[in-house]
Amino acid sequence: MRKDLPDIKILDEKDKRLHQKSEPVTFPLDPELKQKIYDALDYLEMSQVEEIAEKYDLRAGMGLSFCQIGIMKRIFVISEDYGDGTFGRYVVINPEIMSHSEELIYVGEGEGCLSVNRPVDGIVPRYARMRVKAYDENGNEYEIRVREDISIAFQHEMDHLDGILFVDKIDPKNPFKNKDKMREI
Ligand code: NI
Repeated sequence: MRKDLPDIKILDEKDKRLHQKSEPVTFPLDPELKQKIYDALDYLEMSQVEEIAEKYDLRAGMGLSFCQIGIMKRIFVISEDYGDGTFGRYVVINPEIMSHSEELIYVGEGEGCLSVNRPVDGIVPRYARMRVKAYDENGNEYEIRVREDISIAFQHEMDHLDGILFVDKIDPKNPFKNKDKMREI
């Protein structure tokens, strides 16, 4: 893992860019943009390693959309902690949901977002499983099946690309609406 913290400045939910739609990406990517993708993944990995997170005062995060760093393009990255010191890396560009489960799930402790710096009560219904089509950083199209927490992460980030935050999906008058119709993870 790299030693220096990548130059990633995350915008707060008050920034209007977090409420705007991001633009589709065309290929090939600028080398700088491609580097940002790797930087964002490095940042997420580092944020999930306790000693590094403490050293740099980072909040742990598994997903980041490019609008959160002020780049209004339909790109997000996810870093999956395998729990053995290694991480899975997802680079997701211009994603489209091809199909999804009927079953809905939610994060019992509530979703988090690196741009939402306040406690939020409530749950967000998400598909338990999806098949998604997207492009990688080299412009190669691929299809991926995602489930459980990775499916939730994909939906959380895809919402970002449309200017939607998880807090926008919670009714403050009834933050746990339909809880018993969904499965907690
Ligand atoms: Ni987020």
